[in-house]
Amino acid sequence: MNAPFVSPIQDLLDDLHARLIEQRAGEVATYIPELGKADPEWFGLAVATLDGTVYEAGDSRVPFTIQSVSKPFVYALALQDRGLPDVLKQVGVEPTGDAFNAVRLEPYTGRPYNPMVNSGAIVTSTLVGGDTFEERRERILTGLSAFAGRELAVDRKVMDSEAATGDRNRALAYLMHGAGTLTCDVEESLRLYFEQCAALVTTSDLAVMTATLAGGGINPLTGETVVSVEAAANALTVMATCGTYDYAGEWLVRAGLPAKSGVSGGLIAALPSQLGLGLFSPRLDSRGNSVRGVAACEELSQRFGLHLMRPAERSGPVFHRTLRGDTAHSSRVRAHDERTALARLGGAIRVYVLRGDLAFSSAEAVVRTISEDTGSVRWVVLDLKRAGRVASVAETLMEGLAAKLKERGITTVVVDTEKGVTVPSAVISETRDAALEWCEDALLESAGASRMTVPLAEQDLLRSLDPFLVTALEAYLEPREYAPGERLLEDVAALCFIISGGLARQIMVGTPPRPVRETSMGPGTAVGRLALIDDAEHTHRIVAECPTSCLVLTTRELARLERDSPRLADALRWSIANAIAARLRRTDAENHALIH
Ligand code: DON
Repeated sequence: MNAPFVSPIQDLLDDLHARLIEQRAGEVATYIPELGKADPEWFGLAVATLDGTVYEAGDSRVPFTIQSVSKPFVYALALQDRGLPDVLKQVGVEPTGDAFNAVRLEPYTGRPYNPMVNSGAIVTSTLVGGDTFEERRERILTGLSAFAGRELAVDRKVMDSEAATGDRNRALAYLMHGAGTLTCDVEESLRLYFEQCAALVTTSDLAVMTATLAGGGINPLTGETVVSVEAAANALTVMATCGTYDYAGEWLVRAGLPAKSGVSGGLIAALPSQLGLGLFSPRLDSRGNSVRGVAACEELSQRFGLHLMRPAERSGPVFHRTLRGDTAHSSRVRAHDERTALARLGGAIRVYVLRGDLAFSSAEAVVRTISEDTGSVRWVVLDLKRAGRVASVAETLMEGLAAKLKERGITTVVVDTEKGVTVPSAVISETRDAALEWCEDALLESAGASRMTVPLAEQDLLRSLDPFLVTALEAYLEPREYAPGERLLEDVAALCFIISGGLARQIMVGTPPRPVRETSMGPGTAVGRLALIDDAEHTHRIVAECPTSCLVLTTRELARLERDSPRLADALRWSIANAIAARLRRTDAENHALIH
């Protein structure tokens, strides 16, 4: 039994966790006394994709109070329930450049600057749907739970601790009430806000909640539409401009992601349409952001190429087509035994034809899909011919995949000509056909099913012929040996049986014309005017690829055979007709497999 497949993304997270856990700068927040009880060593990381995969490392399941990280989610709920125009009347969207708890309101209107600072968040809590305090309380908790995809509880101790000590927030609330911006009862508004801050989440929850915003309001785990696309987009926008307070500008330059931090050490960051990140570690820097969280987020953004202002991945399905080696074959012409073996065993070869740009999300999907289905697979072909840009994170993930597959005895072949991707653990091939042929050869060899030598009587064309006719035919054949690269003279060879070795059909392209390998033929198959080679001799040629032994029926001997043994000539022509019909049937079946 193989150990479970560990994704290269998981490895990257584990590595990041192991390195950043050494950072011990910063202080745990104590202004809410209960928060001071946090273990400063806690460190969790989580990445949630929009199709609901969550990668986690460290203390990703330790519960902690969400604090200010709740603000963008409650803002999204308020937008959902009231609409942007109404919400804007009471809370602005301008960055302050001040700390989260600054006592500063817009001159004249008394409106808080934005919903990410405490003043704005206190008003925002009162704007969610509901006519009474209880209804709003319920709306906030069920709304946050819907973002997380599970029912969240509230840490009463932390809530009471904040209620007992939150004089600054109380001052802000009274100020706004006096200015007419906060229209609800002051103490009730504060209770709403303190309770929202005390909702218990894990780092994994934070990643899922953020992926819900990144996915336009749809929870990737439950599929529930939590808020509208517009509400989610506006919440992300305010996170980008105001989410990290007086660090917002530098943050956006460095990490390039809308983000929000909280005093308990939580941090979220979103890449719209792609993923949500959750981070948690209680030691905070002087601005109140988690030291390890900020470092991890910046590094993840760089390593995964997540910066929002980079050219985006073109979206769309990453798999153009998936093929199996038992139904789709290379163009190599193989004899009966090898074909039968491939039909039986070829499922061990998988071909993934990828398209679109390959960056974090698409490469993650590729790695995950392939790693989920490795049971009977021995060869994986990744065809990048149709892919667009390949970001370095995609190379890293493909290399991680190839290295892990190698450990399980699975060979990866990457089809790439012009992109020059670097995947050291993979074999690089120029065309999908060549890659498939290489895998087929390897499979046949490992199964002991490759035919090195095929005597005349077992040749494909002659299998159904009476043995005495095969013996009679032998008298008309001449043995020929070809050295690698030597060209066959098709004009004299009406029919050429490959006994051992192999031939390639080359087509001449460009000026001056140079030969390009089009297809190849192995022992047991035949070429020549009479068989499957047409007479367009100026556009292609047949050359030996390795030392090759053939039995050749020359044009002169064919004439003699037709004159002296009409019955044999007739039988031979029927065999050829049957072989061509069989090959057409196989081609049809393969086309069918490609189309459907
Ligand atoms: O308002 C407060 O003090 C807390 N309940 C939340 C503050 C917070 O998390 C600010 N974060 N950067």
